[in-house]
Amino acid sequence: MKIGSIEVKGLCRLAPMAGVSNTPFRLLCKELGSSLTTSEEISAKALVHGSEKTFALAGYLPEEKPIAIQIFGSEPEHLGEAAAIMEQKGADIIDLNMGCPVPKITKTGAGSALMKDEKKAALIFQTIRKSIQVPFTIKIRGGWDDHTINAPQIAKIAQEEGVDAIAVHPRTRSQQYTGKAPWEIIRQVVEAVSIPVTGNGDVRSWEDALRMQEQTRCQSVMIGRGALGRPWVFDQSFEVLSSYEQHQRKFQIISRHLTLIRDHMPEKFALIQMKKHLGWYISGTQNAPESRAKVFTFQNTSDLQKWFLEYWPESFRKLYSPTTSAFKEESLSAL
Ligand SMILES: Cc1cc2nc3c(=O)[nH]c(=O)nc-3n(C[C@H](O)[C@H](O)[C@H](O)COP(=O)(O)O)c2cc1C
Repeated sequence: MKIGSIEVKGLCRLAPMAGVSNTPFRLLCKELGSSLTTSEEISAKALVHGSEKTFALAGYLPEEKPIAIQIFGSEPEHLGEAAAIMEQKGADIIDLNMGCPVPKITKTGAGSALMKDEKKAALIFQTIRKSIQVPFTIKIRGGWDDHTINAPQIAKIAQEEGVDAIAVHPRTRSQQYTGKAPWEIIRQVVEAVSIPVTGNGDVRSWEDALRMQEQTRCQSVMIGRGALGRPWVFDQSFEVLSSYEQHQRKFQIISRHLTLIRDHMPEKFALIQMKKHLGWYISGTQNAPESRAKVFTFQNTSDLQKWFLEYWPESFRKLYSPTTSAFKEESLSAL
């Protein structure tokens, strides 16, 4: 897929997720095969007002490039100015959030509320397009609610106004994340425009991604919740490993993630991130509730990392039967 002049190689990419898709997780997913990096949603207004906290949130490492910085807001001028600021700070793509369902955001007219007013959306597209040279993308929902599904219409307007690519999460704002994502809406968007379309919603494996591509003809697939505690979802070769090899690979990947968190975040935030991600990594393993409770008792990242480095191989050894020299495949696959 090509977004403007930027070549995006590989089918699957990490979805923007507030509080999750920060530098350590984005880098990890990129190393595992995610084809494009996108920041979490960043307030355009806060960028324009020079908020240091917001600039820190919008930060990234050179290794993450090419990177799309996602902005949210409702005022065309703020959005145009914020897009230009982030372009100046090296963003390779500016992405506009038109999908966030959180009331704190929608009540200001931002996020998925932008889907409600096509004229205003067109004005915002024009303003951002005029403000930047780099590719400009949008991430939309199916519509505001079940009575106003207008993703294909918004996509057409976007294409007319010079938007270079579109990502679609087909649930409406009212559906939030409930029910099954109606992939047929992704297909409708693909049929409405000639610019590249990324499909998103309920993809948890390569098999799902290929099925989405086949059913909708989208050019790329975005994975959000399916990557939480499972960033190996981006690595197509992971699925063909034996349970034994998968367990070892998971150990390497999680260890790498913990190191990236410690290397790239201040201790206070690193501890929160480590606990959050370890909670997801441990979920579904044997004795998950006890192990998760243990994770949340740690007061610093160094002790937590040490604990993990012993815990994971130990949980593995317990499943190994020295008498038969065979791994209990069934138990292992639960890990
Ligand atoms: C914790 C969380 C935070 C999210 N934050 C953002 C965000 O900042 N920007 C955005 O466009 N979408 C955000 N989303 C939506 C996801 O990008 C994605 O569209 C949604 O999770 C559906 O895809 P999935 O079924 O693969 O998870 C978020 C989702 C989750 C679960």
